[in-house]
Amino acid sequence: MLLKLPLLGMAAALAALAQAKSGKTSCPPPPQHNTTCFNPAPAPQLNGTTQLNNIGMVLFRAFELIDVYGVLDPFQQLAHTNNKLNLYLIAETLEPVTTETVAAVMNPANSTFWPKLTPTHTFADDLDLDILFVPGGLGTMNPNVTAVTDYLRKMYPKVKIFATVCTGAGLAAKAGLLEGKVATTNKSAWQRTKAMGKANWISPARYVVDGKVWSSSGVTAALDLTFALIGTYWGVEAAADIAKGLEHIPAKPLEDPFSKLYNITPTEPLCHFAKDVKWPQL
Ligand SMILES: *[C@@H]1O[C@H](CO)[C@@H](O)[C@H](O)[C@H]1NC(C)=O
Ligand SMILES: *[C@@H]1O[C@H](CO)[C@@H](O)[C@H](O)[C@H]1NC(C)=O
Ligand SMILES: *[C@@H]1O[C@H](CO)[C@@H](O)[C@H](O)[C@H]1NC(C)=O
Ligand SMILES: *[C@@H]1O[C@H](CO)[C@@H](O)[C@H](O)[C@H]1NC(C)=O
Ligand SMILES: *[C@@H]1O[C@H](CO)[C@@H](O)[C@H](O)[C@H]1NC(C)=O
Repeated sequence: MLLKLPLLGMAAALAALAQAKSGKTSCPPPPQHNTTCFNPAPAPQLNGTTQLNNIGMVLFRAFELIDVYGVLDPFQQLAHTNNKLNLYLIAETLEPVTTETVAAVMNPANSTFWPKLTPTHTFADDLDLDILFVPGGLGTMNPNVTAVTDYLRKMYPKVKIFATVCTGAGLAAKAGLLEGKVATTNKSAWQRTKAMGKANWISPARYVVDGKVWSSSGVTAALDLTFALIGTYWGVEAAADIAKGLEHIPAKPLEDPFSKLYNITPTEPLCHFAKDVKWPQL
């Protein structure tokens, strides 16, 4: 504002001078535009019931539990209505994947609090997936995530929807898949995740969509991303029924108090955020 006022004052003075010289009336002021904004591609048009049946979730050591289950629980409910859905839990090997961090320094009390999830498939399997989810977690900081990033690069062109949760966006960026795309991620790990690779990182944002690439903010934003996906591709009614059943009120795309909490300077905004799903009143 402080910078703009003298400039506008000078412009007005010049306009008045020009008007006085030419004797013409001045033009109406030009409309105020935002400096710039990102203009993401629209989400692909798909019918979930018929076109999005095979759903994959990538697993790696020290994944974040809610990033995975926040997606799987609503989809499990959807699968138990009249939608045929197949789940693929995919990891480097078929060994159960633990949430345990590699570095002992991250477990100072020597706790044994590490659930495991058993994969159904490996990265070597040639799967025909419609949606691929990439969770986040402390495992994204593992210095060697080559197995995961190679898999993401292999699958990206084949899937209809490529969705990241939390710091999972860092893995996709590291794989080089987000360059030129808008994406968001864990706001409490913002700088570290941004450093993993190129993307047009957006904050504030609970989740953003750029064509087939959907990405959410941290951890519990998995739920909001998932309800937006279900609302978009299976219908708002189906999504709202599941949200009510799980007693969750999905956040809107821009509802992101954590950007402020973690002192993130707002990035250039999106020209348009994903269409708000109109959640029915409870
Ligand atoms: C400028 O961006 C802000 C924040 O995204 C938005 O609320 C506002 O409507 C935009 N203004 C114009 C003229 O596009
Ligand atoms: C999607 O396909 C199903 C099954 O053919 C059909 O019942 C439903 O109306 C379709 N949904 C949309 C939004 O077209
Ligand atoms: C941590 O606990 C395990 C048993 O769960 C034990 O074998 C190990 O010695 C402990 N390590 C330390 C550093 O206390
Ligand atoms: C998000 O970032 C915070 C701070 O680094 C971290 O504690 C948390 O585990 C991160 N969550 C995920 C899923 O990476
Ligand atoms: C990194 O991980 C891949 C896949 O697990 C493995 O083949 C490779 O040897 C590892 N590289 C290093 C430097 O440890």
